[in-house]
Amino acid sequence: MLEATVKKILQANVYEAACETPISPAPFLSRRFNNQILIKREDLQPVFSFKIRGAYNKMAQLTEEQKAKGVIAASAGNHAQGLAMAAKLMGVKAVIVMPRITPDIKVQAVRARGAKVVLKGDAFAAAAEHAHELMEEHGYTYIPPFDDIDVIAGQGTIGVEILRQHSGRLDAIFVPVGGGGLIAGVAAYVKYLRPDIRIIGVEAEDSACLKAALEANERVVLEQVGVFAEGVAVAQIGEVPFMLVKDLVDEVITVNTDEMCAAVKDIFEDTRAVAETSGALSLAGLKKYVQQTGVEGETLLCINSGANTNFDRLQHIAERTELGEQREAILAVTIAEKPGSFKKFCRTLGKRMVTEFSYRYADSTEAHIFVGVQVKPGGEDRQAVIEKLRDGGYQVEDLTDNELAKLHIRHLSGGRPSERFEEALYRFEFPERPGALMNFLTQLPHDWNISLFHYRNHGAAYGRVLVGMQVPSGDQTHVADYLNAIGYRYWHESDNPAYQLFMA
Ligand SMILES: Cc1ncc(COP(=O)(O)O)c(C=O)c1O
Repeated sequence: MLEATVKKILQANVYEAACETPISPAPFLSRRFNNQILIKREDLQPVFSFKIRGAYNKMAQLTEEQKAKGVIAASAGNHAQGLAMAAKLMGVKAVIVMPRITPDIKVQAVRARGAKVVLKGDAFAAAAEHAHELMEEHGYTYIPPFDDIDVIAGQGTIGVEILRQHSGRLDAIFVPVGGGGLIAGVAAYVKYLRPDIRIIGVEAEDSACLKAALEANERVVLEQVGVFAEGVAVAQIGEVPFMLVKDLVDEVITVNTDEMCAAVKDIFEDTRAVAETSGALSLAGLKKYVQQTGVEGETLLCINSGANTNFDRLQHIAERTELGEQREAILAVTIAEKPGSFKKFCRTLGKRMVTEFSYRYADSTEAHIFVGVQVKPGGEDRQAVIEKLRDGGYQVEDLTDNELAKLHIRHLSGGRPSERFEEALYRFEFPERPGALMNFLTQLPHDWNISLFHYRNHGAAYGRVLVGMQVPSGDQTHVADYLNAIGYRYWHESDNPAYQLFMA
């Protein structure tokens, strides 16, 4: 199968639509990590992602009869744009079914390339089902985003370019993984010619379907899929990609949201390109690999796979970047509620850059302050700050990895209620689109008074809301039953220390 795939890659027809992208050096990163770091610039494709390669190659294999009838795909993202462009160049009718939550910018981009957009369903599965119905009805040909040998062969041309453009030492290539089409193509070609080069897949930790499949030695369906990096938010690795990569990939690394955000900034600093989170995923994995293995003097290449991000999302990405770099510690510190204690706390902290500081009177004996402190990356410096404060007699809670604190508490003003009552706290996530917040509100239970509410639009595909409700302890299970029935993804956060210290 490997040889047949390599032949298909070498015969792939992509350059009538795609361009050969350069490999950019990353001097700042290289110096910081003591390795030569290179970035393959797929963000420079005409559709701002590598997806045009696979889509075009697949379409180039169609018969004249298939082309005359038209093509169809379900996609909310880069595959849709790649397919729309490929179809336009070939003069073929293209229909793209997108979930209704698709950001307007992506719908417009697909329409601008001449494809017909059908908006259907709230999630990808419903859109895909409708696409299959339309295919049966009209005789369209379905163009899959990753689970197809011709799509894989198109993506594999990136591997051909890498080996041709960089003939010197190359120790590892880091590839982002969604459904596995990209890594299958790159791994097949590179391993066939240069088995010494390590191929390392990088996945978002909440959509790590390749890692799960490798561990189980079979494809598995993830129960929940995080959508922060929507380009790679796939619940099951493709069948054809898995057959290829299970013996070719050396390792899979997973990274979290903050690490991806930090990598967006790193790419910007070295190349001035703004990557989407899926596009920066491979660099986040590369950095983690260097930190974990301690390698030095190697040549490591990552693929910046795309740059299709909403501008208003950058605000959120920037906010999380310091955390991803582990350059900011978020701490809750308890100080005495008396004159001079603020000053004493600052003296104990010493000459450190404070990124955030908020305080509100709680009672006559103690106060809790929410403080962000700039620290050196790596965790040791953060630990040193915490130790220093503890040695100074302060009670310190480290909230640096606490999602509730980072998403909501640091933006909430108002503090504690003046009278005591029983409150239960829930954090929700729902697909973002016009009217989604209203929809969410109407579905919230009306039997319990709402005592806290926080929502911020990050320009992301998913909205995040924090809700406090006055729930008598006997009613807790009723609330859980109700919330399970309405089906929004949620977390019960009443015991979270960030809430207990600042809001309860
Ligand atoms: C920007 C970006 N990176 C990576 C991927 C993952 O590619 P694959 O699904 O072939 O693994 C995608 C998929 O759409 C993407 O859009």
